[in-house]
Amino acid sequence: MLNGKHIILGITGSIAAYKAAMLCRLLVKEGAEVRVVMTPLAKQFITPLTMATLSKHPILVEFFNPENGEWNSHVSLGEWADMLLIAPATANTLAKMVTGIADNLLLTTYLSARSKVAVAPAMDLDMYAHITTQNNLKTLSERGVSIIEPGAGELASGLVGKGRMAEPEEIVEQVKAIFASEKKKSLEGKRYIVTAGATIEAIDPVRYITNHSTGKMGYAIAEELASRGAEVRLISGRTALPTPKGVERIDVLSAEDMYNAAVREWAEADGGVMCAAVADYTPVAVADRKLKKSDDDMRIELKRTKDIAKELGATKGNRVLVGFALETDNEEANAEGKLQRKNFDFVVLNSLQDKGAGFRGDTNKVTLIDRNGHEEHPLMSKRDVASVIVDKIETINQR
Ligand code: C5P
Repeated sequence: MLNGKHIILGITGSIAAYKAAMLCRLLVKEGAEVRVVMTPLAKQFITPLTMATLSKHPILVEFFNPENGEWNSHVSLGEWADMLLIAPATANTLAKMVTGIADNLLLTTYLSARSKVAVAPAMDLDMYAHITTQNNLKTLSERGVSIIEPGAGELASGLVGKGRMAEPEEIVEQVKAIFASEKKKSLEGKRYIVTAGATIEAIDPVRYITNHSTGKMGYAIAEELASRGAEVRLISGRTALPTPKGVERIDVLSAEDMYNAAVREWAEADGGVMCAAVADYTPVAVADRKLKKSDDDMRIELKRTKDIAKELGATKGNRVLVGFALETDNEEANAEGKLQRKNFDFVVLNSLQDKGAGFRGDTNKVTLIDRNGHEEHPLMSKRDVASVIVDKIETINQR
């Protein structure tokens, strides 16, 4: 199962380092090629000789060999690896991974690694439960690091609780599972554009018109496309979300900016997903000074914005174009209208009448509508909805 996989086993200064010997042996037995990188403190817990013997290679600790100046390149190590597995991972190393501190070879290797990264935390129960450690683990997990949860039991301190590093056999199982879940890079060589989030239409230098879109659905789709190997240009209105891994983000504010960016990027794209909540109207004139209030009512004259999706649909050819419809009434008929008008291959309908669907939340309940019919899905996480949408894009690609 791990045949030929290149694994860097990172060992940090924890009592649990003794288990790294068994872990190394099991990884090698499964067919993996293992290189061991230890932090300076880890050498106090398990000897380099043990780890070198088990991994069949000299272990690495320092940036260079002080005897002959030979450089231990964290960059080539990072390129070589299919996985960087840090076991045991101390609270200290986890915190440094979060902040980008690079004061030893293991940390520079982490920052250079393009591979999967997994950590098996090991520490005392209070250190593990501390809000700082928990936040660090959450951040790492959000950045795509796999966390191999510690078990509960007796700790080196004599206290009993959660913090004991997972057993080597269990870590190996999780490493296998991480490789097994590796997605096929089915969209390699394809480029997609995704519009996401809300546009902002200025009224004056202070006020603007916008809507409730958070961008979560579009960001999840961009992430899913990228995880299948596609090159993704995410044209994003204002959101509070981090840019998904492997995605190139183009920030825009107004509907007009989004239109210009989308039309430009569409020229070289193989497909597009129109997920943004684009303003339909924008002020005819933007005041260059803050509008003063008076006792009278005020009227702002609005003009239509350009329809991005319709423009891309008109020049679609045989590329895939997906649209969204967020409706409050007459849902299906309205969605079918958009399918025709904007020349979408399919429309993702989410109704504001469904609980848990639409804006803000992490879930969505959608119906995919194409020219052959309707496909209704249950309430799912936006991530799973993204996966369903990208699956359908792939079936259209294959036609
Ligand atoms: O017409 P309506 O705004 O309801 O259509 C929604 C679909 O059209 C969404 O996919 C949305 O991203 C897209 N759209 C667009 N440009 C606009 C308005 C909507 O791309 N100006």
